[in-house]
Amino acid sequence: MTFFGHPFHPMTSHFPIVLYLLGVWLTGAYLWRGQTDFERFAYWSFILSWLATIISSLVGLVDQNQLEMADPRRENVNAHITAGVTLLIINGLLVYMRFRWTDVLTRFRWTYLGLMALGVVAVATTAWLGAELVYRLQIGII
Ligand code: HEM
Repeated sequence: MTFFGHPFHPMTSHFPIVLYLLGVWLTGAYLWRGQTDFERFAYWSFILSWLATIISSLVGLVDQNQLEMADPRRENVNAHITAGVTLLIINGLLVYMRFRWTDVLTRFRWTYLGLMALGVVAVATTAWLGAELVYRLQIGII
């Protein structure tokens, strides 16, 4: 999928990264300062990062179809997809838990924060593998 001749996925892929990390940062700010607004904004940030991950993934699926079926670089794209889907699941669980229990940070504090930390690993891995596709394997270079 292109937008004025540019691959579309790189234009959308930064939103899930930034919004997820913003959610983590706001959660940390809430734990530090105790102001509930930080926690509420963190929740919205996780909702938006989840939606952005879905949109970016759908666009990425279209972009990867421009590779030949026999192209060995599809293996690398698949690793990138695995990390992206892991992020989608973790981010979805965070949103579900916060939706189900508004006091999740008290009731299930360490499960919730542990999941959040795993999400940081997933988002960093997805982004790193994505950058490998472009800058090392030259996918989507125009
Ligand atoms: C099913 C899911 C996904 C597929 C099929 C996919 C596919 C791709 C492909 C083919 C590229 C190479 C550039 C291009 O042709 O557009 C790429 C790059 C990239 N992807 Fe994904 N992607 C997926 C999900 C994600 C997600 C969820 C994120 C962010 C959390 C992400 C972040 C990136 C980044 C940062 C790049 C490098 C962009 C650049 O620096 O120019 N991808 N991806």
